[in-house]
Amino acid sequence: MSNFLHQRQTYSALTDPYPLSPRISLNYQRSNFLFNKTNLFILFSLLILLGFLYPYLGFFASNLFSNKTQPNSHSKWRNYSLKEALSFVSQNGTVIVCAVSEPYVPFLNNWLISIVRQKHQDKVLIIAEDYATLFLVNERWPGHAVLIPPASDSQSAHKFGSQGFFNFTSRRPQHLLHILELGYNVMYNDVDMVWLADPFPYLRGNHDIYFTDDIAAVKPLNHPHVLPPPGKKGRTYICSCMIFLHPNTGAKLVMKKWIEELEAQPWSKAKKSNDQPAFNWALNKTAGQVDMYLLPQSAFPTGGLYFKNQTWVQETKGMHVIIHNNYITGFEKKIKRFRDFGLWFVDDHATGSPLGNL
Ligand SMILES: *[C@@H]1O[C@H](CO)[C@@H](O)[C@H](O)[C@H]1NC(C)=O
Ligand SMILES: *[C@@H]1O[C@H](CO)[C@@H](O)[C@H](O)[C@H]1NC(C)=O
Ligand SMILES: *[C@@H]1O[C@H](CO)[C@@H](O)[C@H](O)[C@H]1NC(C)=O
Ligand SMILES: *[C@@H]1O[C@H](CO)[C@@H](O)[C@H](O)[C@H]1NC(C)=O
Ligand SMILES: *[C@@H]1O[C@H](CO)[C@@H](O)[C@H](O)[C@H]1NC(C)=O
Repeated sequence: MSNFLHQRQTYSALTDPYPLSPRISLNYQRSNFLFNKTNLFILFSLLILLGFLYPYLGFFASNLFSNKTQPNSHSKWRNYSLKEALSFVSQNGTVIVCAVSEPYVPFLNNWLISIVRQKHQDKVLIIAEDYATLFLVNERWPGHAVLIPPASDSQSAHKFGSQGFFNFTSRRPQHLLHILELGYNVMYNDVDMVWLADPFPYLRGNHDIYFTDDIAAVKPLNHPHVLPPPGKKGRTYICSCMIFLHPNTGAKLVMKKWIEELEAQPWSKAKKSNDQPAFNWALNKTAGQVDMYLLPQSAFPTGGLYFKNQTWVQETKGMHVIIHNNYITGFEKKIKRFRDFGLWFVDDHATGSPLGNL
């Protein structure tokens, strides 16, 4: 496992230090070197030895260079399993995951830059929804992306409100359940988010599930941390964008219920739903059996508050931890809004991303 992940480093370490010197020195010394009897004998012995070692050298070289041939390195990542990926990226049994299709890669990069600043990038695992994303990430940042088949058709998967988008987001609770069953603590983030501070100190206590509210109405700073009462539609507006889970029975129960709710209320043209209502119904139905924790609004505000109420932003200055660029649709609009608020880092700080400049 670690062997093939580090192959790129091995390759450069072995080949880069002395790229040309042996050949050059051989040319310089050729005339007096070749006609010396002792040296001829040594040369002859070396040739025999080389002939003997040839098959092994060939094998060695093919291993070294296999990473340079695209199909070969790609097929490796095709078979990279969730279990392998988790054991490679996790730290102290914890991982940070997101799920990304190709059109969202610029947002992924922006999100990653913000996580690097909080020094939590090493435990980030990107669940690639298509092969293009899987290969792109692992090429630049080996081991940090995994694809859980089947891959989605990336064209249909990114339009908010579409069936493709619903299908794509519907797999989220399944991925999270799978990770919990493998025994990891997991933080899920949408990639249209940025970290302004380290969220981990807020994940206090030992609750089963931590989440944030998506309502834009201002709450008192000392609001309760329990599941809020249902809103107008009979349900809560908890965001499925940022969730932290411990691998215990309660957290798994919520994920199973979420999967059930998605199956019970599939996407329809009339409703054009996303996965969030089902998540809220799952919370509603498991509330009695699960230890839930609502994170503070001042630290984890919805985009409907952060980008729309400057008075509130000023009042809560220094408290913000993760900002979600929601309550707006369309890539261009989201990017523009991030830029307007100084939260689009990829223009000037791409070197801070493990993916580099894309
Ligand atoms: C990938 O896994 C499948 C099934 O586990 C196997 O048939 C295939 O040979 C593997 N491919 C590579 C390149 O390892
Ligand atoms: C892992 O946990 C230990 C003890 O709780 C802590 O000291 C250490 O900093 C943690 N390491 C990481 C990488 O989070
Ligand atoms: C979404 O999933 C449903 C049920 O599995 C399937 O019939 C439909 O074709 C999928 N649609 C898209 C656009 O992915
Ligand atoms: C669950 O939703 C129903 C219907 O809106 C509501 O009456 C009930 O109070 C909710 N339960 C919890 C624990 O929020
Ligand atoms: C904006 O925030 C201020 C300060 O918290 C609050 O008093 C006001 O009601 C908010 N405005 C809206 C439209 O929510």
